[in-house]
Amino acid sequence: MAKDKTQFECSECGALSPRWAGQCAQCGAWNTLQEARVSAKASASQQSGRGGRSWAGESRLESLDGPQSEAPQRLPTGFVELDRVLGGGLVPGAVILLGGDPGIGKSTLLLQMLLRLKDVARVYVTGEESVGQVRARAQRLQEPSADVALLAETEVESVLETVNGNDCQVLAVDSIQTLFARELSSAPGSVAQLRECAAQLVRYAKQRGVVVLLVGHVTKEGVIAGPRVLEHMVDTVLYFESDPGGRLRMIRAAKNRFGAVNELGFFAMREQGLAEVKNPSAIFLARRPDPVPGSVVVVAREGTRPLLIEVQALTDEGNARRVTVGVDTNRLAMLLAVLHRHAQVDVAGQDVFINVVGGVQVRETAWDLAAVLAIMSSFRDRALPLDLAVFGEIGLAGELRPVAGGEERIEEARKQGFKRLIVPQANAPRRSPPGLEIHAVASLAQALDAARDMLS
Ligand code: TYD
Ligand code: MG
Repeated sequence: MAKDKTQFECSECGALSPRWAGQCAQCGAWNTLQEARVSAKASASQQSGRGGRSWAGESRLESLDGPQSEAPQRLPTGFVELDRVLGGGLVPGAVILLGGDPGIGKSTLLLQMLLRLKDVARVYVTGEESVGQVRARAQRLQEPSADVALLAETEVESVLETVNGNDCQVLAVDSIQTLFARELSSAPGSVAQLRECAAQLVRYAKQRGVVVLLVGHVTKEGVIAGPRVLEHMVDTVLYFESDPGGRLRMIRAAKNRFGAVNELGFFAMREQGLAEVKNPSAIFLARRPDPVPGSVVVVAREGTRPLLIEVQALTDEGNARRVTVGVDTNRLAMLLAVLHRHAQVDVAGQDVFINVVGGVQVRETAWDLAAVLAIMSSFRDRALPLDLAVFGEIGLAGELRPVAGGEERIEEARKQGFKRLIVPQANAPRRSPPGLEIHAVASLAQALDAARDMLS
C-alpha cells in the first residue's frame, strides 16, 4: 500500500509545497502554509485530474452552431429580495455559496428558503446543529409547514449516497467547513477538505441538475474561509452582511453566472426569522426634522435597483485630512481637486470627512455630485433643502457626466417624496414628471450655482 505523504498547503491560494516555509512561494502570503496529509490514493487521482479514469474516448468536439440549451427553468425561493440577487431564482444544477459572519442569519435564511420552496424535494444537511435544534428553529420561524428532509451527517460521500437514494432537487449544506471526505486525513475545514468536498458536491450538482446551497464561514478579513478556489468552483457567491447599526441584513452577489453582480437584497431579523425589507430607501434616509449643513441625498443604484442614501460631509479647520466611510478616498481627493480648479472652492487647509449613512458601500460614481454639494454645504455652513436629491459623475474637466439608469433614479426619488433634483444634462427626461423640479446641468459649476440658490 502506498504511504501517506505530508505536504504543506497554502490556506490563501491552495498551492502545495513539499516543505514548510514562512511565505507561500505561489501567492506570497505569509504564515499560511499548513500541514496537509494527502493519502496516496487521493493524490494520484488529483494528479491525473480525472479521478484516475483514462483519457480515451470520452470527449468529443462540438460545433458552435449546434442547438442551444434551453433557458433553465428557475425555482423561486419565496423571497423576492433573494430571487432578484440570484438573477430570478434558483437554477437547477447551480452551486451557490452563501458566506457571512457567525450569527448573521445564514442558517435561518437557508431554512426559511427551504420551507418556502414550492413542490420541490429538498434536503437540509446539518453539520453544526443537531436535528432537534433545526426542528426547534423551524418551529420558531412560523413559516407554512413543508416537507424538508433533515440529515445530520458530515461525511460528504455519505451525504451524497443518502441524497442520491432519495429524491432531491435542492440540497442545502450547513456548513461546507464541517464536511470531510473519506479519502483525506486532514481535518474538516482544512483547505484540502474544503476543496475536495466542494468538488464532489459540484460534480453531483452538475450531473443530477440538483441545486446545491453551501453555507461558508467568513474569516476576520471578510472572505470565505478557505482558498479562493472555493469561490472559483461554484456558480454564485453570495455574501450576507449587516449594516454597522445592525438594523439591516444585506445579501449581495459577489459572483453570479446566472445574473448580475452587486445586486443587493435587504432583510431584517425579527423574532420569527428574517423578513424582507421592500423599501430600503426609507431606512437609509435618516429622519431629520430640519435641514442641516453638509447633508445631501444621492440616488444611488445597487445592481438594478435605485436606492436613496444620505451622504454627509464635514469640513473643519485642520491638517487637510481626508477621511471617507463608504466611498473611495482617492475619488474624494480627485473631487476636491476638481472643486478647486473648476469651481474655485478651496478646502486645501481643511479636514474633509465623508460618511455614507447606513453603512452601505457605494461602488458607483453617481455619488460624486452628492459629495461635492455636501462639502460645499458644510464649508459654507448652510443647509440644502430636505426635498433635494442628486446624482451624477464628475469628470476631471469639471463636466457632469451621465450615469446609468437615470430614469429609474428620478422615478425612485419621486416615489420617495423628493421634489427637487439636480442631475446631469444627459440624464434629464424629455418631460419632467409632475410635481418634480429637475435641474439638468452640464457642469459642476452649473450644479453648484443651482444648489447655491437653494441654500438656507
Ligand atoms: P443563524 O441563522 O443561526 O446565523 P448563522 O447561521 O449565520 O450563524 O442566526 C443567528 C442569530 O439570529 C441568533 O443570534 C439569533 C437570531 N435569530 C433571531 O433573532 N430570530 C430568529 O427567528 C432566529 C431563528 C434567529
Ligand atoms: Mg449557522
